[in-house]
Amino acid sequence: MAETVKKVRTVDLKERKRRREKIAMLTAYDATMARLMDRAGIDILLVGDSLGMVILGHDSTVPVTLDDILHHTRAVARGAQRALVVADMPFLSYQLNDEEALRNAGRLIQTGGASAVKMEGGQSIAGTARRLVEAGIPVMGHLGLLPQHVHQLGGYRRQAKAAREAEQLCDDARALEEAGAFAIVLESIPTDLAHAVTSELTIPTIGIGAGPHCDGQVLVSYDAFGLFDDFVPPFVKQYAQLGQTMVTAAQAFADDVRSGRFPASGEGK
Ligand code: KIV
Repeated sequence: MAETVKKVRTVDLKERKRRREKIAMLTAYDATMARLMDRAGIDILLVGDSLGMVILGHDSTVPVTLDDILHHTRAVARGAQRALVVADMPFLSYQLNDEEALRNAGRLIQTGGASAVKMEGGQSIAGTARRLVEAGIPVMGHLGLLPQHVHQLGGYRRQAKAAREAEQLCDDARALEEAGAFAIVLESIPTDLAHAVTSELTIPTIGIGAGPHCDGQVLVSYDAFGLFDDFVPPFVKQYAQLGQTMVTAAQAFADDVRSGRFPASGEGK
């Protein structure tokens, strides 16, 4: 008899935090990757707007559209059985007004197959987050380095180093928890600050470049697997060198074709 898979749900994650069980999250953009990462036991698959850089070749996440995210979310949702699929809300898909945000988040859930959405920002988007949660759409927050703000920030720098910014980030985290967010990504902030936020909140924090004290960790899978080497952030750990493996495999294929070793004579009869 086929084994029934127990899906990871947003409501399970708070309990995971309470039990001090760390949460593993990676980005995924297609069905095959989703299937493989699901098999590996990854808890959350994020269809991140990082796809703008690692899949679509843009130099930031800003040009990514809702249709881009929708397209890749559908593929990931088809591949994932156990993992929670979270779709990123791209730049300007939630900032105009709550109705627009609700309509866009609704598409990612209803026709994309995501179980939750992620939005960048704190107090400024907390009202919108609350509106989505009230409509039944689980929201993951994202604080610290906000890649959609890259033009304003002037680069991908560590955030909240000054005391005033750290206080603001704590206020933002509280506002998101009060709005009903089920988890918050903390990106590129000091370890001590991530520790303090993690201790204060009852919802899990998922860190990226935020030290070891968060309730979970996330990496862009193309960074973690060594597929994207245009720029490797200093906090990334590369668990494989798949980029080089693929180059070597492609070279072997080209050599075989050019030398006539592939296909072997007799094949295709
Ligand atoms: O888009 C993305 O991949 C993200 C992660 C870096 C958290 O937001």
